[in-house]
Amino acid sequence: MKKIVIAIDGFSSNGKSTMAKSLAKEIGYIYIDSGAMYRAITLYCIKQGLFNDGKLNEKGLQDRINDIKVEFQINKSSGTPDTYLNGENVESQIRNMEVSSKVSAVSAIPFVRHAMVALQQEMGEKKGIVMDGRDIGTVVFPDAELKIFVTAEAEIRAQRRFDELRSKGDTKTTFEEVLENLKSRDHMDQTRAESPLVKADDAILLDNSYMTIDEQMQWLVEKFKQITTN
Ligand code: DC
Repeated sequence: MKKIVIAIDGFSSNGKSTMAKSLAKEIGYIYIDSGAMYRAITLYCIKQGLFNDGKLNEKGLQDRINDIKVEFQINKSSGTPDTYLNGENVESQIRNMEVSSKVSAVSAIPFVRHAMVALQQEMGEKKGIVMDGRDIGTVVFPDAELKIFVTAEAEIRAQRRFDELRSKGDTKTTFEEVLENLKSRDHMDQTRAESPLVKADDAILLDNSYMTIDEQMQWLVEKFKQITTN
């Protein structure tokens, strides 16, 4: 069966990573969470003290960008890739609220995007990959054979992220804070000058507000089969 590239884009916290991960597992493809790469760079900036009073020292980041190594390694117990920053497993650190609130600023910087896009394109050279993000179908893999654009209502997405934070032991963050963070990220993702979040013309729209994970999977596998068996 021919191998293809699957690009899954959409708003934050709409379950696209979970969806992309399960799809990759089901069809034996590599899964790459491109958002994790921007999160890892953001964590690097926080650790290096490049944020002062919430403002990023862009010049400081530019001077160091070639020293930052972002990689993925399969976690033997979960079977899915964990994110590594300069050799350290940062998979859980990159999901915290501090990173979430600063990542939009970092991912809007052109030199950061250029470096990450080049890395992502390299990862997809051999195809057989499912990558999720914001610009995968538009910028990273404009020729991807299957493009999905995922959306869901903001309150539903906030509830999902809130439940996830609680399940990971975060008892402090309120639902309102999660909703605010999500809305401001939606806005920044859609209005930034460099590669704004936009649906590719040839992407298929999936609104999963009222779909179960199983229904989504069935829908996705169906689309995958239509393309790979024709
Ligand atoms: O998918 P996520 O919430 O983990 O993404 C984190 C941030 O990175 C989000 O604010 C948008 C940005 N991002 C991006 O600009 N381009 C991508 N391909 C993936 C994520």
